[in-house]
Amino acid sequence: MVAVAQTSQESLKQRLNVSGGRDLSGTLKVSGAKNSALVLMTASLLSAETVELSNVPALTDIDGMTAILESLGVHVDRISDRIRLTASTLSGSTPPYELVNSLRASFFSIGPLLGRLGHARVPLPGGCRIGARPVVEHIRGLKALGAVVNVEHGIVTASVPGSRKRLTGAQIVLDCPSVGATETLLMAAVLADGVSTIENAAHEPEVQDLANLLNTMGARVRGAGGPLITIEGVEQLHGCSNYPVIPDRIEAGTFLMAAAITRSTMVVEPVIPEHLSAVIQKLRDCGCSIDINGRAITITPGVVTAVDITTQPFPGFPTDLQAPFMALMCTAKGTSVISEKIYENRLQHVAELQRMGASIRLEGSTAIVEGVAQLSAAPVTGTDLRAAAAMVLAGLSAKGTTQVSGLKHLDRGYDDLEHKLNAVGAEVKRNIS
Ligand code: EPZ
Repeated sequence: MVAVAQTSQESLKQRLNVSGGRDLSGTLKVSGAKNSALVLMTASLLSAETVELSNVPALTDIDGMTAILESLGVHVDRISDRIRLTASTLSGSTPPYELVNSLRASFFSIGPLLGRLGHARVPLPGGCRIGARPVVEHIRGLKALGAVVNVEHGIVTASVPGSRKRLTGAQIVLDCPSVGATETLLMAAVLADGVSTIENAAHEPEVQDLANLLNTMGARVRGAGGPLITIEGVEQLHGCSNYPVIPDRIEAGTFLMAAAITRSTMVVEPVIPEHLSAVIQKLRDCGCSIDINGRAITITPGVVTAVDITTQPFPGFPTDLQAPFMALMCTAKGTSVISEKIYENRLQHVAELQRMGASIRLEGSTAIVEGVAQLSAAPVTGTDLRAAAAMVLAGLSAKGTTQVSGLKHLDRGYDDLEHKLNAVGAEVKRNIS
């Protein structure tokens, strides 16, 4: 395990020196999904018994969520990739703003807290670099379930009136298929009185993983992964042991693009192929042959040609792989049109790629990328978690050694990235400048 920066100050100084032009070969191992593990951890608030998760990635976001849950009174034990969470007695306190602000998934804990205790106070998560990221849908749904919700001074206070302190099953229709709102409301509804439905629900695999965990804990959830989820409320939930977090489809997609950008034949595993259908199709369209053998994917890049992408909710092309794919298109033959439709400000990596010689023109939320023969190394910064990964990929293919900063973003979402890349022939060194 690399000595990942323990403080944001340290990580501000840390850099990755990425040597370009090396061929990679071998197998890239995929860790458990960050965006599932974080939410599954908050589901432990719903039971007084121990919830044990396995295949949990080693990420600073997991450390952050651990701290937040401990501040709420949850007992957390971590042994390698297993994490045991016991919420037998909750303190009812408010998680600290600075922790919630840096870790959006912690806001989703308002759902299970309300479902379990009948009250909750959680700081409003700030917007971030990629967009405003409001939580309107989360709050609308909690009100539909019978909660009184107030937002003032940056704190969301929710409570269930009446002596029973139980939410009431309701029909909820989301204005947009928000992943976090679907997960928050799913966790609120499992202990409500009666039946709830969530229409226009997010279809993401992480929502399905959460529903599967909740059902393992005794909930009655049907339809997760589709547009209509039905939840029959139950009195209480029990714990569970050894619930495996699904593999991280975004890390897997990033690795497939690392193979493609270095024109290297690689194996990426484990992957659940149906979690990456849109990405696999686009990699095939741009000239990579992809063989799927169970949960192992072999990618053999050919001449990489430009293809267009538009980011969409699952099962469309994921916004979290837009930046890594743009890095790949920078050295593809031809011109690709990349449209970001999920976030209003998730194209800041364009300026960083241009510093490396990429030929990109921005038109609103669309980037027109004209492939060049080769990028050239430069000091660059990862402006968000996935943009940082994109800069590492660009560095793998550029002439020279690229210095990537912004590692506090990278370490949030990629488990031991440099070790995994160096194990297949890359030369990526972390140093403090
Ligand atoms: C989850 O964020 C992921 N994070 C994000 O991954 C991912 O990009 C996103 O889903 C979309 O797939 C986690 O799961 C922890 P949303 P979430 O609510 O739940 C708008 C990464 O890099 N919206 O589906 O916050 C919102 O502004 C991160 O791993 C509203 O307009 O995403 C955004 O434009 C980044 N109103 C879009 O929907 C609302 O009430 C998607 O947001 C809620 C959301």
